[in-house]
Amino acid sequence: MNEKMNRMEFLKSLGLKGASLFAVYCAASGLSSCVNESMDPTIPPTDGGVTGNVLSLDLTTAAYSKLNTAGNYVIVSGIVIARVNATTFAAVTQVCSHEGQRKVVYNAGEFFCPAHDARFNTAGKGLNANGSRGLKTYVCLLEGNILKVTL
Ligand code: FES
Repeated sequence: MNEKMNRMEFLKSLGLKGASLFAVYCAASGLSSCVNESMDPTIPPTDGGVTGNVLSLDLTTAAYSKLNTAGNYVIVSGIVIARVNATTFAAVTQVCSHEGQRKVVYNAGEFFCPAHDARFNTAGKGLNANGSRGLKTYVCLLEGNILKVTL
C-alpha cells in the first residue's frame, strides 16, 4: 500500500467522509497534486460519493457515463476505474509501482504508465519489467446504475 493510501485510510479512521475526506486528503497530499489533478481532463470535476469504505459512481451522470462503454475509464480520487467489457470493471491505484508517478491510465485492455511504459493487466499484475511490482487493485461491483468500488 502506498503512502497516500495509508494517509487516506488514516483520515477515514478519523471519521471524515465524502467531500470533507477528499478535501482533507487533497490538502494533506500537497498542493501540487491537487493542481495537477484539476488540470487533467481525464479526471471528472467532482468526486464520487464515499460511504464508509465504498466509492459509489452513478453511471447515469455525465461525469461517469463513459463507463457505460467498454474500453473507457475515469479517474476518481487517485483510482483508475475501467470498463473492461459488458460485464466487467477493473480498478487500480493511479500511482505507478515503478517510481511512484501518478500517471497510470487504462488503454487497450490493460493499465499503463506512460512515464516509463510500465504495463499491468486488469488484475494489477505486471506485464513487463517496469510493471513487475504490480498495482494495488480495488473490487468493483455494479448494482443497477451504481458502480461500487471498495476502497
Ligand atoms: S513511474 Fe510508471 S513506469 Fe516508471
